[in-house]
Amino acid sequence: MKIALGSDHAGFEAKESIERWLIDQGFACFDKGTHDTESCDYPDFAGEVARSISIGESEMGILVCGTGIGMSICANKIEKVRAALCHDEHTAQMSREHNDSNVLCLGARLNDQESLLRIVGKWLNTPFGGDRHARRVSKIGDLEQRR
Ligand code: RB5
Repeated sequence: MKIALGSDHAGFEAKESIERWLIDQGFACFDKGTHDTESCDYPDFAGEVARSISIGESEMGILVCGTGIGMSICANKIEKVRAALCHDEHTAQMSREHNDSNVLCLGARLNDQESLLRIVGKWLNTPFGGDRHARRVSKIGDLEQRR
């Protein structure tokens, strides 16, 4: 599976560590930046990762900023993206089972490194539940077309 990764300065170290872990697990990663801790703007990286999903370059995306909030607001502006801001394993699991989230947004200032990796692992290992949830997710797509 191909995963696009992005962060701002606040999420840089967490993004690097998540990327190393993903590569160890055998995932192919597209690192869309940022590439250091110099102050930068989260919409730039959210856009890169979200577009990677939208054009089919990546199947999933992970975005990290201080809280994850800015990243989730931005990523959800892009067609075909269902970005979920998750602060624990339960919300990560629900976002996959119920919402078929394809972008995980994380807050590097809210979770320690170990729990971020546990959230990522739970998110990647939880399948979409389908059934009634598929009908609801399809209605999310309908909203996109009516913008
Ligand atoms: C950067 O200070 C911070 O605003 C950003 O990382 C993020 O938390 C925004 O939502």
